[in-house]
Amino acid sequence: MTTVISSKPQENSAKNLASVSLPSWLEHKLGNWLANKLTKFIESQIPANARLLDMVSSFQQGQCLYVVAKLKVADCLVDSPKHIQTLAEELKVQADPLARIMRYLCELGIFGQDHLGRYTLTQVSELLVSYHPQSLRPVVLLYNEETYNVWANLLHTVKTGENTFTSTYNTPFFKYHSLYSDFADIYNQSMASLSILLDQAVAEDYDFSVYRTLADIGGGQGNLLRQIAERYSSLQCILFDTQAVLTAEVKEQWQQDPMDNRVKLQIGDFFQSVPTGVDAYLLKNVIHNWPDEQVVQIYKTIHQAMKPQSRLLLAETVIFDHDAMQRMKLKLDLNMMVIHSSKERTVKQHSELLETAGLKIVKIVPTRSHLSVIEAKPMNSY
Ligand SMILES: C[S@@+](CC[C@H](N)C(=O)[O-])C[C@H]1O[C@@H](n2cnc3c(N)ncnc32)[C@H](O)[C@@H]1O
Repeated sequence: MTTVISSKPQENSAKNLASVSLPSWLEHKLGNWLANKLTKFIESQIPANARLLDMVSSFQQGQCLYVVAKLKVADCLVDSPKHIQTLAEELKVQADPLARIMRYLCELGIFGQDHLGRYTLTQVSELLVSYHPQSLRPVVLLYNEETYNVWANLLHTVKTGENTFTSTYNTPFFKYHSLYSDFADIYNQSMASLSILLDQAVAEDYDFSVYRTLADIGGGQGNLLRQIAERYSSLQCILFDTQAVLTAEVKEQWQQDPMDNRVKLQIGDFFQSVPTGVDAYLLKNVIHNWPDEQVVQIYKTIHQAMKPQSRLLLAETVIFDHDAMQRMKLKLDLNMMVIHSSKERTVKQHSELLETAGLKIVKIVPTRSHLSVIEAKPMNSY
């Protein structure tokens, strides 16, 4: 039977008892539950026609955010507030359309205005600054370029059952990623910035102390691996991904990283082979990119490389009933359908795919993010 448990015993329990602190994953779940209830209450007070009209036009918000992100408006406001004329001249665009977009985004709380009418940054638009350490600018670009075009063909998926990325761009997503380096840059940066909070949640809420070796398969540029390696000082790690991700530039960055002696980079294809005999194989946000058949193939490749006592760790979205983060998870699921012909999965769906590849779930560890860590092992192992 699958159990849902918290992985880490609370350190310093006396101190925690005194301050009555909850595990961070539970605090996170309670916060989401409350926010969800409040949102639903507020929505129930809005007339149905107003709600529907607001929803159907919500793409306009995305497009306005896209324009300001593409133009790097936020970068221009870092040093000082600016009047619209100054902004338009610096950015070499028309003042009137930009002013109307900025007026709308101010109303949404994205930008502010000072008493002289000059535009200022808010906590939200600070995250659009291109060099902010947690910048979401690449995500805004990713969502409003290829992803936006693909979503415009959603009906195609419903009629044919195919994803619309392949038909819109005549190329499957990861092939496109390997062909177009500009797109790969935006995608890789987006994954890195989306991952900042998720990586911290996985690194802190799952207990990696029982492993001596860890391979992050499809690990991107290694942000999660760096966080885990920093926390577990004797862990030897392998960062495994494709050539399009582990570029010469990424390798060079790792060579200058203090963790470099414990993190080895390996280029490869998880449909062919992965490093053998590692204690833990981690896959974060990888499985949801693939249809069932390919997922089983990936699991079989990893299973072949595992020792009997190895573990497979899936840091993934798990769809549970009555989940306060359900809206977000179901939206992610649709993105997977439209782009990759894949899905976010329930425990039963995860379990069935693992079993087809000769693996079984040991436990599911919640984290303070929407991700859970599914720990699996080879069937018939100890
Ligand atoms: C959604 S990203 C997740 C990256 C990272 N794990 C994270 O959470 O930020 C999926 C990753 O799988 C990698 N990938 C796709 N196909 C692969 C393959 N055949 N072999 C190895 N890695 C692959 C991609 O390059 C990408 O880095």
